[in-house]
Amino acid sequence: MKPFIVIGHRGACAHEPENTLRSIRRGIHDGADMIEIDVRLVDGEIVVFHDDTLDRTTDGNGSVYASPFPELRALSAGKRERIPTLAEVLALTGGQVPLNIELKDRLVVAPVCSLVDSMPREDVLLSSFDWESLREARHLSPTVPIGILTEGAGEAALMEAASLRAASLHPALTCLTPEYVALARARRLPVYPFTVRNSEDLGKVRACGADGCFADDPGWVRAAMSE
Ligand code: G3P
Ligand code: MG
Repeated sequence: MKPFIVIGHRGACAHEPENTLRSIRRGIHDGADMIEIDVRLVDGEIVVFHDDTLDRTTDGNGSVYASPFPELRALSAGKRERIPTLAEVLALTGGQVPLNIELKDRLVVAPVCSLVDSMPREDVLLSSFDWESLREARHLSPTVPIGILTEGAGEAALMEAASLRAASLHPALTCLTPEYVALARARRLPVYPFTVRNSEDLGKVRACGADGCFADDPGWVRAAMSE
């Protein structure tokens, strides 16, 4: 049987502040097969950050794009962690665990491709809900692995995957069905739904026959899968 791939969502955000080095270390420690992070381009730097505002996850407020980089770095992202850069996350995960970089804005695409292409590592997977960003990534980096994020279980995502020579399909859990997994399988696309947070979610992922999943608590999913 093929192994089930557990992807630590924003590190291990059930336990540690999301998208911080601390959260990523926890995800690695807890046995995640891959770590997922979100990136944006702010003040010329690739920063690891989910929202477009600072309010929910830091002690700052307002648009993340309004602050110069040194001011962003002075904020606490929880437990006095700093907002990391992509370079820091690549350094931390290199040689330890594959990294899924989710592109959250268009401006970040070219700098991410340039950085990833400059590195010897091949265990980096780019993904985005914005397929135009993925088309640009494919153009800039003809061989980088790409994952298609989708909130609907439609034919469009499968066609986009074929066109981009995608490595995987990342559908929302809400739209996951056994039929959709089978359609992806027929196109040799592994399916990694997001985001598993409890037993019911994991039950659905298993019942649908997905190849893995994104999980806020990758250690718990890993343990549940081996029972
Ligand atoms: O990449 C899977 C998941 O992270 C997508 O949604 O909003 O958590 O970035 P979000
Ligand atoms: Mg994400």
